[in-house]
Amino acid sequence: MRKEELGVLVQSLKQMAAAREVVNISKKVGELIEDMTHRMLFGRCKDYQRADLKALVQETLILVGAFNIADYVPFLGALDLQGLKRRMKAISGAVDHILEKVIDEHKQDASENQGNHKDFVDVMLSLMNEMKNFHQEPSYLIEQENIKGIVWDIIIGAIDTSATTIEWLLSELFRHPRVMRQLQEELENVIGMERMVEEVDLANLVYLDMVLKEGLRLHPAGPLLLPHESIEDITLNGYYIPKKSRIIINAWAIGRDPNIWSNNVEDFFPERFIGSNIDFQGKDFQFIPFGSGRRKCPGMQLGLINVRLVLAQLVHCFDWKLPNGMLPSELDMSEEFGLALPRATHLHALPTYRLLPKVNMTTGLVNTTVNSTVYSDGQLAVYEIPQILLSQGILSPQAPASAPLPPKPKKASPLNSHAPSTSTTVSVDSCEATGLPHYAPIMVSIGVAVVAALSLCI
Ligand code: HEM
Repeated sequence: MRKEELGVLVQSLKQMAAAREVVNISKKVGELIEDMTHRMLFGRCKDYQRADLKALVQETLILVGAFNIADYVPFLGALDLQGLKRRMKAISGAVDHILEKVIDEHKQDASENQGNHKDFVDVMLSLMNEMKNFHQEPSYLIEQENIKGIVWDIIIGAIDTSATTIEWLLSELFRHPRVMRQLQEELENVIGMERMVEEVDLANLVYLDMVLKEGLRLHPAGPLLLPHESIEDITLNGYYIPKKSRIIINAWAIGRDPNIWSNNVEDFFPERFIGSNIDFQGKDFQFIPFGSGRRKCPGMQLGLINVRLVLAQLVHCFDWKLPNGMLPSELDMSEEFGLALPRATHLHALPTYRLLPKVNMTTGLVNTTVNSTVYSDGQLAVYEIPQILLSQGILSPQAPASAPLPPKPKKASPLNSHAPSTSTTVSVDSCEATGLPHYAPIMVSIGVAVVAALSLCI
């Protein structure tokens, strides 16, 4: 699912790159994460539901991040002077209405498809039914209300955090071409230029991990985490904190504290994590982008996969230039106040596709071109040329027409599936797709070069 959605984005960016169009990265990445999350939760979400949910998410994030006078003068809370409670109730009603409908549609689909579970809501519904059937302890029962609550928590928790993190990471990479180059080099070495990044590759991308940590240190998507409450009286560093105090933890300030991170604290310098054991788990209190303890982010693993995969893919598939000749140092890095502290302005850049030409967006592999050669005894050999060889100039369609015919190979090497075979028939369509003539002598020199290049490769 992630691969498919990301493939669609890369394809559209590839077209924009060919047309030399500037990409609104903030918008594209936001839509991608939204699509991935909706698909995971609901399968395919109807367009109008998606639009309504998006508006409600935005309104919720504004309200949750808004300055609330009642936080400082609690007795004013009952008066709701700013109308925050009223607006929150209205949102809650609208969300409830949409999710109720979505769940009802899933119930109906499940009965029609005989419980063929596909997405998160399906699984939750099956859990609800299972528990009811087996008369589990009432405290473990999941009701429809719980499903709506969990789904809404995921929507609020997953989309903005992941999209904002990717946006900031790309911004820092645009501002630091050295780091961008180094990351692209790692991707080239680990993955190569013939295919896109796969989820299984992520574990091998060590520098990517450092880049991600450095990005989250400087731009934690929950700068003040979520409000916590102390459950007992405690004295810390001489300060008495009564139980039930609201605790706000400034993860943003901790990540920029020179006493912890040394004097280059404001620099984007992933190498600071070389040889360090600091991780995301919330046990290293100098680095808590996902919080810590029992209330830390429950979606951390999913968030990390999404962010790593999207970032790696965008950096691997494209070179990026800032628009209108803007210098890296001129990129606006202002933050907008809010729950996730996003960029104040959308991030724009001009992509250039950098993988070898015909990587298939669905399989992620290099496409091949079917070619043919006629040997001196009149036999036709058909073989595939990876586009990589054409694009790297190892093969040239302009090879001299007078090139000598290659000797007919006695037997194709079992190691080399691309080696010319002697008696294959060829479909006219596949030859025409190459745009090259079937029997022209030019093919002969190409065939020789293919065999030579492939034997070198293998
Ligand atoms: C890069 C991506 C993400 C970042 C940086 C992030 C960060 C955070 C942070 C800082 C918190 C507050 C923790 C605390 O107060 O101690 C949090 C809570 C939460 N996150 Fe994430 N998150 C990310 C992705 C996700 C995803 C993908 C999901 C859902 C699948 C998710 C669901 C939640 C939920 C439901 C909470 C509230 C937990 C609670 O109240 O107990 N997050 N996240």
